[in-house]
Amino acid sequence: MINRIGVLTSGGDSPGMNAAIRAIVRAGIKHGKEMYFIYDGYRGLVEGNIERVDRTSVANIITWGGTVIRSARLPEFADPEVRKKGVEQLRKFGIDALVVIGGDGTYMGAKKLTEMGINCIGLPGTIDNDLACTEYTIGFDTALNTIVEAVDKLRDTSSSHQRCSVIEVMGNHCGDLALYSGVACGAELIISPDHMVPKEEVMTTLRDLKTSSKRHALVIVSEKLFDVKDFAREIEKETGFETRSEVLGRIQRGGSPSAFDRILAARMGVYAIECLLEGKSGRCVGIINNRLVDFDIYEALKMQRDKHEQLLKVIATLK
Ligand code: F6P
Repeated sequence: MINRIGVLTSGGDSPGMNAAIRAIVRAGIKHGKEMYFIYDGYRGLVEGNIERVDRTSVANIITWGGTVIRSARLPEFADPEVRKKGVEQLRKFGIDALVVIGGDGTYMGAKKLTEMGINCIGLPGTIDNDLACTEYTIGFDTALNTIVEAVDKLRDTSSSHQRCSVIEVMGNHCGDLALYSGVACGAELIISPDHMVPKEEVMTTLRDLKTSSKRHALVIVSEKLFDVKDFAREIEKETGFETRSEVLGRIQRGGSPSAFDRILAARMGVYAIECLLEGKSGRCVGIINNRLVDFDIYEALKMQRDKHEQLLKVIATLK
């Protein structure tokens, strides 16, 4: 029987991680379990940066951005010897189960720990929405709203100066933040891994907009595709549209979580504890058709992401 449960956050932080931590701790305590914070992700696990917590330790944090237990990236955790140190620390504290919040790298660590005898459940905490086993990750909605707010402001100034704005958004290799924010902001062009636009088409579209006396143009681009600064220069040269580039960067990861993310995090946190109580391990939680589900982590990481055919149709129709 599981008596002591740890929680850690790993990888890039995301708004709503704290709401998830709160739900996990309170649900665990409700079921009579001892709950532990593991600080600094897998690094803190290996170093034994672990502390017992109670209900009040998670008071107020539902509204906070970031993660109160901090996060870290530890590529060395792929090494079984490093993981062994983590398992030893858990044994020292008598912790037999973990809930880990993060992305695919975090999940892989959790699966490996499961194989070493620690019961692990993964929750999707990343702004990227790049996990195929869930329609939404914790933090995606808040990051999307942050982007929309920023792009709406850029629209104002672009319009005043009759400029084209090229805006790079995060997402790692997943284009969901670009696609969704592009639709929400009425961007003239969206360029993402699921929606690549040939350069010639970009130039023709912007030339046409310029001659149709459009006052501004918004071009939203997923990160890791190309250099938006160079691209902006090229646009200006080829279309005559005065162009500026913006990289929104890590501002997208901060801020108080949206109501959607808080609720998603609360539901997933409670569900994670239920999974452990049912004896599940090496699994990750998702939401599909508004129902919580769980998958084997290896299976989940092999799943194919939704290609957003319906959203792409909307983009094509409205362009
Ligand atoms: O995974 C979240 C994310 O913000 C990605 O969108 C981005 O590519 C990456 O993390 C940046 O990571 P870091 O802050 O470690 O440079």
